[in-house]
Amino acid sequence: MAYYVTTPIYYVNAEPHLGHAYTTIAADILARHMRQRGEDVFFLTGTDEHGEPVAQAAERLGVTPRELADRNAPRFREMVARVGATNDFFIRTSDEQHVAAVQEILQRVHDRGHVYMGLYEGWYCPRCADFKTEGELLDGRCPIHKIELARESEENYFFRLSAFQEPLERLYSERPGWVLPESRYNEARSFIDQGLSDVSLSRSSLTWGVPVPWDADHVFYVWFDALLNYYTALTYAREGEDLTERFWPATVHVMAKDILKFHAVIWPALLMAADLPVPERLFIHGYLLMEEEKMSKSLGNVIDPFEAIDVFGVDALRFYLFREVAFGGDGSVSPEGFETRYTTELANEYGNLASRTLAMVARYRDGAVPDAAPQADLAADFDGLAERVCERLDAVDVSGALEEIWRRVRRLNQWIQETAPWRLAKDPEAGEQLDAVLYEVVEGMRVISILLHPFMPDATARLLAAIGAEDHSVAAARFGGEPLGSVADLQPLFPRVEREAQPAA
Ligand code: MSP
Repeated sequence: MAYYVTTPIYYVNAEPHLGHAYTTIAADILARHMRQRGEDVFFLTGTDEHGEPVAQAAERLGVTPRELADRNAPRFREMVARVGATNDFFIRTSDEQHVAAVQEILQRVHDRGHVYMGLYEGWYCPRCADFKTEGELLDGRCPIHKIELARESEENYFFRLSAFQEPLERLYSERPGWVLPESRYNEARSFIDQGLSDVSLSRSSLTWGVPVPWDADHVFYVWFDALLNYYTALTYAREGEDLTERFWPATVHVMAKDILKFHAVIWPALLMAADLPVPERLFIHGYLLMEEEKMSKSLGNVIDPFEAIDVFGVDALRFYLFREVAFGGDGSVSPEGFETRYTTELANEYGNLASRTLAMVARYRDGAVPDAAPQADLAADFDGLAERVCERLDAVDVSGALEEIWRRVRRLNQWIQETAPWRLAKDPEAGEQLDAVLYEVVEGMRVISILLHPFMPDATARLLAAIGAEDHSVAAARFGGEPLGSVADLQPLFPRVEREAQPAA
């Protein structure tokens, strides 16, 4: 089955920070997991390069918007690579193929009668590139960026969003799971229920954008150009091949709640206006907070993902973010919390489990994993685990899936305590029992590591290689599966980290 997952495309006016890494890693975990299930996966990320935020930032720096985009897009590309993301394409909205495809689709929307010329007046936030309603303002300021907003008016083309009131109501009634979590579905639905107004589709005061094909004085409002990336990318991601048939509609768009309205209201309406199928699902996660504030460049309270990776490694970062914060809600992260989880969970619970087990197999059985039958009670604890992880990830519950797996990491540690193989090794009568325990623990680690692989690709691959497990598919993640051979040496998976080298908050 086709599985198409996306992240938002990130604005190139700022540098990549942990918030961007967070969504990118979540989408990557889904993509890797679905590949392990043998699905036909396409994973898209990229940069949003047009519009007011970028034009203004460029002006402040005394460069052209294109220069700024060319300078910063590679930083996002680098961030994506550094967090271990296996995206199939990286779109830049300044790509000429994207620009041409946007023009073609929006011309169609125009020709189908969904566009008209009108006067726009409202409170405009240049950082959001969005007009705010009176009710959204906080003391005359943008609720997100906290900057004072000016009243602006301009002749614009409008998109007849109001004409999609009923089709959107129908979409929400027919597909209750189309926006997750449910609280976000309710939020979007109540926004629609309040009655939709038409939205500005173009800007005439700006030149940095996709030119409106029927009026050279206008460029498209950046959000229309940006949303369409999910669709246009498929038309040119592979040279000489159009992937649209294979991957559209998208399976899931992942993002934070800041851009819910655009994706849950405008995006499906725009697709309907262009006569295209709407995506299957949106998953809206919360904010990573530092000391209770949303992490963002403009507020200056960011953890640098590059520094965190330098200190703890990429696997640890990927693990920490989904262990610390329940995916979907807001949650605080901190360098101290990171270090604690690194030590207690990664180094002690998983890393030590691996090194202890391999050392026992080496010492008691010359490195050969015994071929024994597993005992019923431990096997029962692994029963249905792969299915539950699949269910959780089908529901985009990334941290729920991780919790399912981690309970088994703890179960194995407990099993070692209970069965005390070091004591069995001293008892000449207990050979079979020792065989069974060693087999079970290695087997449990195999199953866990396959399922953990999308979360921590490097450490799990090393462990799987050390126990000679070649098949990394979810189908192989069944306890009591394949016979294992002998174990190889393994360097510590999560070595001790020097305290002084903590990432700066
Ligand atoms: N360019 C638009 C999106 C267009 S998508 C068609 C945009 N860009 S952005 O650079 O501001 O990125 C916003 C997204 O970055 C959020 O929706 C989220 O995915 C991620 N995050 C940025 N800061 C974050 C946190 N502090 N916490 C969680 N996610 C964060 O909006």
